[in-house]
Amino acid sequence: MRHRSSEWFGRKDRDGFIHRSWMKNQGIPDDLFDGRPVIGICNTWSELTPCNAHFRVLADHVKRGVYEAGGFPLEFPVMSLGETLMRPTAMLFRNLVSMDVEESIRANPIDGVVLLAGCDKTTPALLMGAASCDLPSIMVSGGPMLNGKFRGKDIGSGTDVWKLSEDVRRGVIDECDFLEAEGCMNRSRGHCMTMGTASTMASVVEALGIGLPTNAAIPAVDSRRYVLAQMAGRRIVEMVREDLRMSRILTYEAFKNAIRVVAAIGGSSNAVIHLLAIAGRIGVRLNLDDWDRLGRDVPCLVNLMPVGKYLMEDFYYAGGLPAVIRELGDLIHREAITVNGKTIGENTSEAPCHNRDVIHSLSDPVHSSAGLAVLRGNLCPDGAIIKPAAATAALMKHRGRALVFETIEAFNSRIDDPNLDVDESSVLVLKNCGPRGYPGMPEVGNMPLPTKLLQKGVTDMVRISDARMSGTAYGTVVLHVAPEAAIGGTLALVQEGDMIELDVEARRLDLDVTESEIERRRNAWVSPKPPADRGYYRLHHDHVLQADRGADLDFLVGASGTVVTRESH
Ligand code: FES
Repeated sequence: MRHRSSEWFGRKDRDGFIHRSWMKNQGIPDDLFDGRPVIGICNTWSELTPCNAHFRVLADHVKRGVYEAGGFPLEFPVMSLGETLMRPTAMLFRNLVSMDVEESIRANPIDGVVLLAGCDKTTPALLMGAASCDLPSIMVSGGPMLNGKFRGKDIGSGTDVWKLSEDVRRGVIDECDFLEAEGCMNRSRGHCMTMGTASTMASVVEALGIGLPTNAAIPAVDSRRYVLAQMAGRRIVEMVREDLRMSRILTYEAFKNAIRVVAAIGGSSNAVIHLLAIAGRIGVRLNLDDWDRLGRDVPCLVNLMPVGKYLMEDFYYAGGLPAVIRELGDLIHREAITVNGKTIGENTSEAPCHNRDVIHSLSDPVHSSAGLAVLRGNLCPDGAIIKPAAATAALMKHRGRALVFETIEAFNSRIDDPNLDVDESSVLVLKNCGPRGYPGMPEVGNMPLPTKLLQKGVTDMVRISDARMSGTAYGTVVLHVAPEAAIGGTLALVQEGDMIELDVEARRLDLDVTESEIERRRNAWVSPKPPADRGYYRLHHDHVLQADRGADLDFLVGASGTVVTRESH
């Protein structure tokens, strides 16, 4: 079988000389150019992405496997996305990284790819970019950190930041206690160890079949994570020889499996936009309503923060994702093929569960119905989502007076005001935090509660925005309202004192204002100015799709394959 890389390395002419000769300056022997599969190792290592800071070592283990199987590994960097440092939000750059990945793969002599991802946005960005090329590909996730430990108790990255900071505002702990927790929470290599977005997306990778079994949960510092990386290196060489491309794995059935797994693990709401965007690249017609339809009756089986009490390390020791997939039985399309060449059913049919308090059975779930609910109504004609498992049951049907914030800065400047006109029945409405408006749809939808209500002991309120929320967060939070405020969605027209009705059971979210008044407000609405005149911000502003379409750039939906006909010299 003649591989794609032979177009570069398999020639005796001047261009073949150029392609090989400069590579030899790295000390590469002749026989590595003999037509064997060339495996790209796409690395999001960066010291600015602490969750991915161990990836140079991980890549070395992938390389061992590639060499063992007779391949030629070549590691290449792409832009990395660190959730905790990047402003205005790492999500703004997910699509940019996907372009970097796609073009890096296509432009180079690569036959198959191992994708190394960890921190939240790195996983969807790499899958999106690779899907637009559709070569044989395996993702290796970086693995979660060990459990946080603070004063004898386990604490979870993200989830306990929100809890501890609310405790400071309530006066339960002081600033010294709060800062002491800093070094105790994130104490080993790896990504957030709650069932936040990174762990959810690592589970999605396994559920889609684009990662090897056990990919989701092995801690980053556990030697078995490095064995997994080596096995991925061996396997990708075989996949190239078998021509097992992404499009044979990322089928509609695989996406259905992933949606059900996200429900069963109590996974992050961010998975919605990421899976919609990945599906758009590989040509699978997935839509927002699939999330409600497929996840609606799936129980939550995994007792992990933020919806439960344990962390990813416990999840791995309890059996990890294979045990969950086995437990889901017929809710899973068991014939879906995975990167190891076996079906997901074959991979999980014997998977043991070692701790039923961490991974519950179908007959004794953590929550009986855990899927994300998709809401419709005049406030969100193109949809909005809520995660019922992380919400307060008593607020799932609620009518309240809107307290409106035009921006997150306006929210931050008013929320601690003791004279704020708010009570526990109020509905907090935040605008201009959508894909175009912020820009990049930040994780601010889980707005902190007003201080005066926190001090009264209020623990939850209905909150509505066009933003996302961290997968580690919780509360009765309506997210991803579409169309967003910045393009003139009804959300932009909500005024202080308007009544809003939420009915999760009926899947409704409505602004109780007459149609004629909404129309009057719409005619008076003025579109905000773009955030920048040039550069990526401008490109993003002009082309980003709404949340219900995965917030991809409109011209990136679909694939361009890997054929490049023109030479460089
Ligand atoms: Fe990187 Fe949470 S900050 S995964």
